[in-house]
Amino acid sequence: MTNLLINIDHVATLRNARRETFPDPVAAAVFCETAGADGIVFHLREDRRHITERDVRLLKETVRGKLDFELSTNEDVLAICCRTQPHLATLVPERREEVTTEGGLDVVGHRDRLREVIPRLFDAGIEEVALFVDPVPAQIEASREVGANAIELHTGDFAIARAREAQKAEAERLARGAEKAHELGLRVHAGHGLDYLNYPLFAQTVPHVREVSIGFAVVARAVLVGLDRAVREMRLLVKGY
Ligand code: PXP
Repeated sequence: MTNLLINIDHVATLRNARRETFPDPVAAAVFCETAGADGIVFHLREDRRHITERDVRLLKETVRGKLDFELSTNEDVLAICCRTQPHLATLVPERREEVTTEGGLDVVGHRDRLREVIPRLFDAGIEEVALFVDPVPAQIEASREVGANAIELHTGDFAIARAREAQKAEAERLARGAEKAHELGLRVHAGHGLDYLNYPLFAQTVPHVREVSIGFAVVARAVLVGLDRAVREMRLLVKGY
């Protein structure tokens, strides 16, 4: 069974666009869990463009399911993550100019830094440390070598593929990546750009996925149909009920 974690950064983006106190991503997290989400994901960015330290404190206190803290290897954010002790820390690349995370982490190119950072997260009491990677064998092997116990497969290329053949080819590439990670004993998560239309092909093709992290599609649908319904519809797709 694949678990559904909802990323609530997009609620904070809307709040911050008006420099307001609402909509509150912490309240959104409560709605997501009430609608059956297995957990909540947030990304505390260096520039704090959406989630803030206040949100992190309150999410830690209120989320009852799994809490996934996405972060870069920035020292300040790393210290906050260690203090927060989420169930899962997912290391992602971060560039200030980007609109959203673009591509997976270059684990091969950042081995030394990751070898230093990952034990600090485990030592803080965090049980799972995942690296957000493209489905590239060398990156997956390096994830194991630097000490992570999970990967999050970057599904962005699959999500932007339009022609059916291209979608299938990307899904198969993700499937090979998932097999490889599974053989190496890494837990497999996935996310970025998964939505109501592309999820069925992803689920049919890619094995071993323990959890998916989905944000934009659910929050965008919530604007039209409400957050409760948007989460329940995604839960039906991911979990079958
Ligand atoms: N996983 C990671 C590492 C991400 O950076 C994001 C985007 O915030 C997601 C999953 C969720 O992507 P989306 O919002 O497109 O569903």
